[in-house]
Amino acid sequence: MKFTYSNPTVIHFGQGKIAAVAKAIDPARKVLVIYGGGSIKTNGVYDQVAAALAGRQWREFGGVEPNPTVETLDQAVALIRQEGLDYILAVGGGSVIDGSKYVAAAARYDGDGWDIPTRKHKVVDALPLGAVLTLPATGSESNNGAVITRRATHDKLAFSSDAVFPRFAVLDPDVIKSLPERQIANGLVDAFVHVCEQYITYPAQAWVQDGYAETLLRNLVNLALQFKERDNDAWRANFMWTANQALNGLIGAGAPQDWATHMIGHELTAAYGIDHARTLAIVQPALLRDRLDDKKVKLAQMGRAVFGLAPDVDLAQRAIAAIEQLFRGLGVPVRLSEAGVTDASAPERVAASIEKHGLTKLGEKGAITPEVVKRIVAAAA
Ligand code: NZQ
Ligand code: ZN
Repeated sequence: MKFTYSNPTVIHFGQGKIAAVAKAIDPARKVLVIYGGGSIKTNGVYDQVAAALAGRQWREFGGVEPNPTVETLDQAVALIRQEGLDYILAVGGGSVIDGSKYVAAAARYDGDGWDIPTRKHKVVDALPLGAVLTLPATGSESNNGAVITRRATHDKLAFSSDAVFPRFAVLDPDVIKSLPERQIANGLVDAFVHVCEQYITYPAQAWVQDGYAETLLRNLVNLALQFKERDNDAWRANFMWTANQALNGLIGAGAPQDWATHMIGHELTAAYGIDHARTLAIVQPALLRDRLDDKKVKLAQMGRAVFGLAPDVDLAQRAIAAIEQLFRGLGVPVRLSEAGVTDASAPERVAASIEKHGLTKLGEKGAITPEVVKRIVAAAA
């Protein structure tokens, strides 16, 4: 176990905490508030942000779409340059926060912004940004990653840089009240798979990381079991904090990580427009079954520690079935066909784009080649 761990994002957690934005941003800064399709204008979040920014110079940029595109985000970069803005406040879910990270980095780069997701440009500098989270799922509010799409070419690529860690993040669980059921289910699945990507690998004697991962997974299972009774403060607060902790660097520090489900999932979103979390629910069970030999010790550990399954020779297989059942219970599709995709060429198409993106040795052991990807997508049909 060897690692360097730092998470610099200051978290303001709890009801009414959007007001903390007032003190979190230096009053001398000229702020660009970036948001999505407008949910913040109807649920009171925009008004709270505006109140916190009262008396200072700020502008707004709305219209960042789910799976944010460079085509849209580059307009925000232009606005920043034109108006001499020097601080970004992202108000939204993972798409808005990821998009804001791209804008923050692109504003300090003279070349083509697409060089950032393709990693032709290594981001070492970015405008400072803060985040007001409105959808617990991605952990983007306090991590250094972002996933950006180029609509013109159907490419969806991830980049990471410590320069884009939000300086602060506001997590007010009340914002969840306006979330559609589909987005809540998506958020639970996304957070669950984030923990899995850092846990279902091989035993590495990382007791702290394993123990905390199991706590987070049990929380997510319990939140899913209580889905129908979710209209209460404890459910909302625990969902928001669990999703945050699932991808803030802590449980992955020094531990083997997979991320193949995510990389294959990004290709499915780029090709067919399936919601991020839904791609994960489709890919993960098929991937786990394909890689059973590599992962069976951790799957069995998870079966016992998270799902309380009785030990037996097929414990790992039963753990995969329990995961699939969890997703189904949330009404999330676990096959491509259930998500409306019947394209018989999907396995070839996804394997080809994985190869084009240079993702030819995925998984904790680098064993997931484009050929294996093809098999996994075929099994998920
Ligand atoms: O755009 P608005 O109008 O705000 O509506 C959004 C959007 O339609 C809506 N929404 C958000 N908060 C709401 C709300 N509606 C009502 N009330 C609220 N409080 O929800 C819809 C989906 O939002 P989006 O931001 O797209 O969802 P999510 O947070 O799941 O983000 C998904 C994106 O994050 C990337 C994904 O690939 C995808 O592009 N990811 C980012 C990661 C990271 N940075 O670490 C890791 C993840 O694995 C993931 O890849
Ligand atoms: Zn994810």
